[in-house]
Amino acid sequence: MRRMAAVAAVAAVTLGAAVTLGLAACGGGGGSPTSTSKSGGGGGEVEVFTWWAAGSEKLGLDALVGVFNKQHPDIKFVNGAVAGGAGSAAKDLLQSRLQANDPPDTFQAHAGKELTDYIDAGQIEDVSALYDKFGIRDVFPADLLKLLTVDGKIYSVPSNIHRSNMVWANPSVLTAAGLDPKATYDSIEAWFPALDKVKAKGKTPLSVATTWTQVNLLETVLMSDLGADGYIGLWDGSTDWKGAEVTKALGDFKKLMSYTNKDRDGLDWPEATQQVIDGKAAFNVMGDWAVAAFEEQKKVAGKDFIYFPVPGTDGTFGFLADSFTLPVGAPHPDGAKAWLQTVSSLEGQTAFNKAKGSIPARTDAKPSDFSEYQQTAIKSFGQDTIVPSLAHGAATPTSVLNAIADATSKFTTGASDLKTYQSELAAAVAP
Ligand code: BGC
Repeated sequence: MRRMAAVAAVAAVTLGAAVTLGLAACGGGGGSPTSTSKSGGGGGEVEVFTWWAAGSEKLGLDALVGVFNKQHPDIKFVNGAVAGGAGSAAKDLLQSRLQANDPPDTFQAHAGKELTDYIDAGQIEDVSALYDKFGIRDVFPADLLKLLTVDGKIYSVPSNIHRSNMVWANPSVLTAAGLDPKATYDSIEAWFPALDKVKAKGKTPLSVATTWTQVNLLETVLMSDLGADGYIGLWDGSTDWKGAEVTKALGDFKKLMSYTNKDRDGLDWPEATQQVIDGKAAFNVMGDWAVAAFEEQKKVAGKDFIYFPVPGTDGTFGFLADSFTLPVGAPHPDGAKAWLQTVSSLEGQTAFNKAKGSIPARTDAKPSDFSEYQQTAIKSFGQDTIVPSLAHGAATPTSVLNAIADATSKFTTGASDLKTYQSELAAAVAP
């Protein structure tokens, strides 16, 4: 919790007068998940808007829906999922719906600055009363709640915590390239010779997909080259985006991109990760939803795949959390409240996160219920320096992220040079 102070500090810049979580101490004490079920009575429905539309992400959603159907058998789940990793299509569509006063009953939003956008726009309701009703004020880390809170009001219910800065690798491809799968790399630079060896074997050294995954890669290079404090400084104004350290990081990013698959811009994350699963690529940098793709295909950690923090980021946890909201004007608020209850419940969080690859946001979940990778993530979350993910809504408002994504796409498609890229990034963050 202490380690999350960094994320919370960044959040505070936007959250302004965010109150400290003294509030968290006065929870209603462990209400049973089912005690609030059948809210509204007499049936009803809930449209749940996410981007967990296919593959392992859909399996995660299905697991949560399974618990929901058990806890709220009289409420019909309506799947409003819109395909596109990281909400690359969903977030725009959601914005149009919100502006047209046609909100879903509940939608997925990232803890941190992205959520603050919806709060500032008056698009989501304060759900603090539900925290009391469900008895959940004490079950989440206080610093996570801070990222969901403005002026003492809590605006969403977290379902999970993901880590953005992981490498997933195929040990057979590494061995065939003369690399030791157990090798560790201390920095991005120290990683390049290994990527060269894979390249020499005619395989893709590093798989990546469309723009948002490139931004995910970029954030991890920034974490690695600038260190956790320097990276946090990018978001609180204490690190100069125009400085030499950032220039060096962008140079490393450029070089990393030179090792990636040429078809990247037409792919989404599952296809990029699949290249590692299929032995076409050696490494993939991706948030830890990737582990669910390996597991869905019955791949065994340590044998069929390995994972490690992006070189130079051991001890740093690139943090993001999905959470669910109650939009202003939701057509079925009782259905939405029932959904939020299931999301908040230990049973819901356990079933969902087992399938999703993330770790539960609830601190009372049992680590032994989760996979080997997830147990390492739970441990890292407890001891690492927590830094906010750029690509997944924790570090910046969506408008800033969009500007960074546009600049990144220009750069990686050859439409701008490094100098222009750096000045566009600086302008995106401090317009
Ligand atoms: C979400 C994850 C999701 C990933 C890829 C992230 O922004 O937080 O839940 O699996 O995007 O779609």
